[in-house]
Amino acid sequence: MPDLLIDNLHIHFDGVIALDDVSLTVKSGEIFSLIGPNGSGKSTLFNCINGFNRPRKGAIRFGGINLLRKKTHEIPLLGIARTFQNLQNVPYMTVLDNVLLGAHLRISKRDTVKRWLSRKQRVAEEALALEIMDLLGIANFERKYLLGQPFGIRKLVEIARALVSRPKLILLDEPAAGMNDQETIEIAKIITEIRNELGITVLVVEHDMRLVMRISDRICVLDSGKVITIGKPDEVKQHPEVVKVFLGEGTDA
Ligand SMILES: Nc1ncnc2c1ncn2[C@@H]1O[C@H](COP(=O)(O)OP(=O)(O)O)[C@@H](O)[C@H]1O
Ligand SMILES: [Mg+2]
Repeated sequence: MPDLLIDNLHIHFDGVIALDDVSLTVKSGEIFSLIGPNGSGKSTLFNCINGFNRPRKGAIRFGGINLLRKKTHEIPLLGIARTFQNLQNVPYMTVLDNVLLGAHLRISKRDTVKRWLSRKQRVAEEALALEIMDLLGIANFERKYLLGQPFGIRKLVEIARALVSRPKLILLDEPAAGMNDQETIEIAKIITEIRNELGITVLVVEHDMRLVMRISDRICVLDSGKVITIGKPDEVKQHPEVVKVFLGEGTDA
């Protein structure tokens, strides 16, 4: 599995520097967290990786390929999936069909017709979707419409949809936001299983510090688009600048 190398990334919007020479490496098989105050550039970094934002300078390499040279729709084909801070699922479809939407992310234009026509393919995709839904504890919602499902379930549907594309790397943008304590513990378990059981590298943006400290191999702290420090949870927690930046924010990142 490839590492993700981010090298001197720089991007600004109308005078606001969103990322200021950001460099970091997410190693294959890691659970790597990105924390920082609101507006520090976390989602922008995700948007650069999946091709929504086009940085001025720098490189993002995944398995030796510079992602900045790829079109947005090509990124999932390289094995990079993501979830969004604001949910992107479809209310008038069943939970299963929402999850299956992710399976088609990985199909190139050339393959589309062939794969749509193949019943065997559909059966295999459904089996994978159900397996993933089972891992996430939402398998019994399969035939239910997404509309009216609790927020916690819709968040898991979003993660399941990303997983069904069989990524090598998954980007999770605030998976625990809006979740209660019990659901947050559940999310921590799920993220660990995504790495341990499915062997997927995880890059996660999250505000819940207890969750971040519990699950992460390493953490990168961003502030105003700059990397403050990168290290293991215990190292990051004690870093003087981190203490300063987060002072007064309680347990929030
Ligand atoms: N598309 C955009 N247009 C203008 N400004 C943006 C855009 N995306 C992000 N920004 C700005 O870049 C900074 C970083 O935003 P963001 O990456 O969303 O922060 P975070 O996810 O850490 O809260 C903020 O000042 C934000 O307003
Ligand atoms: Mg954000």
